[in-house]
Amino acid sequence: MNRSIVELIPPFVRQIDPYQPGLPVEEVERRLNLRAVKLASNENPLGPSPKAVEAGRAALAEAHRYPDGGGYYLRQELAARLGVPMDNVILGAGSTDLIDIVARTLLSPGDAAVTAAGSFPMYSIAVRSIGAQLITRPLRDYTFDLPALLDAATPRTKLFFLANPNNPTGTMFTASALERFLQELEKLSPAVVVLDEAYFEYVQVPDYSRSLELVRSGAPVLVLRTFSKVHGLAGLRIGYGIGPAPLLAEMNKIRSPFNTSNVAQAAARAALDDAEHLRRSVETNRLGLQQLVEGLGRLGLRPVPSVANFVLVELGRAAGPVADALLREGVIVRPMGWMGFPQAIRVSVGTAEENRTLLAALGRVLSNDDEPGREA
Ligand SMILES: Cc1ncc(COP(=O)(O)O)c(C=O)c1O
Repeated sequence: MNRSIVELIPPFVRQIDPYQPGLPVEEVERRLNLRAVKLASNENPLGPSPKAVEAGRAALAEAHRYPDGGGYYLRQELAARLGVPMDNVILGAGSTDLIDIVARTLLSPGDAAVTAAGSFPMYSIAVRSIGAQLITRPLRDYTFDLPALLDAATPRTKLFFLANPNNPTGTMFTASALERFLQELEKLSPAVVVLDEAYFEYVQVPDYSRSLELVRSGAPVLVLRTFSKVHGLAGLRIGYGIGPAPLLAEMNKIRSPFNTSNVAQAAARAALDDAEHLRRSVETNRLGLQQLVEGLGRLGLRPVPSVANFVLVELGRAAGPVADALLREGVIVRPMGWMGFPQAIRVSVGTAEENRTLLAALGRVLSNDDEPGREA
């Protein structure tokens, strides 16, 4: 870029570590001349509900019209299902859009947000793009350390980002732990807690989440959910937030007015109606997670116990070369150095066959005499 243009850009933007997208799967396949297995982005290996595809296709015929910018029918349906009024629901182009909008709504340069080091990078990008400060505290046992985050808050802290389950570790904190955190926070300072529940539907643990009750009780909590994960609509970019109506009203002022497309809204509504696809997706994940954990164990690896649709696997050696070697075997996983785990890969749960392919390829890579990553 022309130097003088770069100089126009505030240093706090220039200093942002970019989100690192993987190579498109088609490009990997073209370069290696093989069919690749993609276990890199925590997607639903079954794909979208056929009903969602059909609804999206029908909506495409209306693509010459702007979408319903208020997302009326989808918000109405979500509100009814979630047991909250419609003005407690906001739509985003994926939940990442809402992470960005809530940060821009609440933070001024010099304000602070708090999250864990070793969590979803979009929190950092959203906060730092405003010139606000992101304060982080380490995970404890790969899990959000809520008391440590409270201790880290300053008088200028207006936002907390809590991922539950956390990406990339797949760990969770309980509803009771969050309630204790909110009680303590109330004594300290008025701040909004963004509770990122992108993987909500996969979690089958008692006392996991009572987030909607918190919203209904008026707690300063913005719950984020998405159609990208269990609903298999990541490519359509649609997610939603559930939170206090006055906060959402301000967020609505600064979001792009047509941030969710008519195709995405239609597909999302149909996805909500397909309970069978949802059930099958959750069950496929439950079995696939078990298969991966057992298979990784046979390779002498102990993945971090996960309640989501991916696992973090510490390899005891630099992860980048192992991920590269897996790529040459046609399996795409993500090395996690850029999220703070230089010796770990994150593996998304695939179909039984995809999981078998990954396990076999990883077995070959780790037993290879060249030992990728050993010397690094
Ligand atoms: C914790 C977390 N939050 C949010 C998202 C973003 O999802 P979306 O596709 O809805 O923007 C992801 C996606 O990987 C995630 O892991």
